Amino acid sequence: MHIANRLKEVQEYYFSAKLREIRALEKGGKDVINLGIGSPDLLPPSRVIEKLKIGSNLRGANQYQSYQGLPAFRQAIAEFSRNHLDIVLNPEHEILPLMGSKEGIAHISLAYLNKGDQVLIPELGYPAYTSATKMVEAEPIYYPLIESDDWCPDWKFFDQLDYSKIKLLYLNYPHMPTGARGSQKILGKFVRIAQKYELLLIHDNPYSFILNDQPQSIFSVKGSKNCALELNSLSKSFNMSGWRVGWLSGAAENIKNVLRIKSNFDSGMYQPIQRAAISALQQDEKWFEQLNLTYKIRRNCVFRLLDKLNCTYRKAQSGLFVWAQAPVMDVDVLVDDLLVNKHIFITPGHIFGAKGRRYLRVSLCAPAEVFEQAILRL
Ligand SMILES: Cc1ncc(COP(=O)(O)O)c(C=O)c1O
Repeated sequence: MHIANRLKEVQEYYFSAKLREIRALEKGGKDVINLGIGSPDLLPPSRVIEKLKIGSNLRGANQYQSYQGLPAFRQAIAEFSRNHLDIVLNPEHEILPLMGSKEGIAHISLAYLNKGDQVLIPELGYPAYTSATKMVEAEPIYYPLIESDDWCPDWKFFDQLDYSKIKLLYLNYPHMPTGARGSQKILGKFVRIAQKYELLLIHDNPYSFILNDQPQSIFSVKGSKNCALELNSLSKSFNMSGWRVGWLSGAAENIKNVLRIKSNFDSGMYQPIQRAAISALQQDEKWFEQLNLTYKIRRNCVFRLLDKLNCTYRKAQSGLFVWAQAPVMDVDVLVDDLLVNKHIFITPGHIFGAKGRRYLRVSLCAPAEVFEQAILRL
């Protein structure tokens, strides 16, 4: 069979291959502690699970749903955005529910990129930015992050670029994998770059509520609506990664463009998931307080685990992971050693970009007892 050229550009997702290796070890009777993936082990709020159950018995729940989602779901997203991110979105035209932000990245690429276009991507970043770019035969250009400056972008880099083919720019604060929190100042600088060079910013914001005291939206920067789209997700904020539910927000015109693509791929989101998601978005502050308390306890365990490995790390990080520098030049040797000899899986930093080759990313998605067990094994 001939395969499409785009397939030659895209590798199997690192975790998809690594999980096969882990399963093989488990089949051989090994108890592998997986601290790799950011898939919350905690449950969503109990009310949300109840809503899903009730919703599945409602008349019409089983049928195809609107491509734009239930109006009540979009309204709940608008209210959540106002209450927690201090931004105003029009629920009619400025919000598009997504089956997770990952699919949004693919749809945005299809809506805005032609073959040969270029896309600015943080040199350490979520791998889907690169793969979605390559899948539409566009070219990733990586912008540097300065290690010694809390992984802040190197702004000088943006002054010397040829912008004739650059169409999109991804940014992601809190940043995965480094845990850098970002600031209004950083978001503002990106908006000015986008305005000056007529780029579309894609702010990927799934970690806004995890170990982060100041959740922020790109839309809190004046004038950003016309040059930015923002992705958000219930995956991490409400422990719903497997439910596949998130949203895209931005100017009506941009939302319409993405909807034109998306409506040719799926036929709406399962209605009970939307109803349950409404109830998640209506949780009060106590939900985040409790969630973050749990992650703080886990993070302290991870710090101890990293001390055992002689790693160095910053304590002030946001998001679902701890990013740490390993005491070796090639982190793969350490990662393989840990997997084969201690049956502990930790993600090597290089899967997020070459600058990560001396780094490890440890997920907080395991109970404290599991971290204690990992520490004992070390
Ligand atoms: C930076 C970043 N963006 C997007 C996603 C995808 O999230 P979702 O579950 O909403 O598709 C992830 C998931 O790990 C992520 O780390």
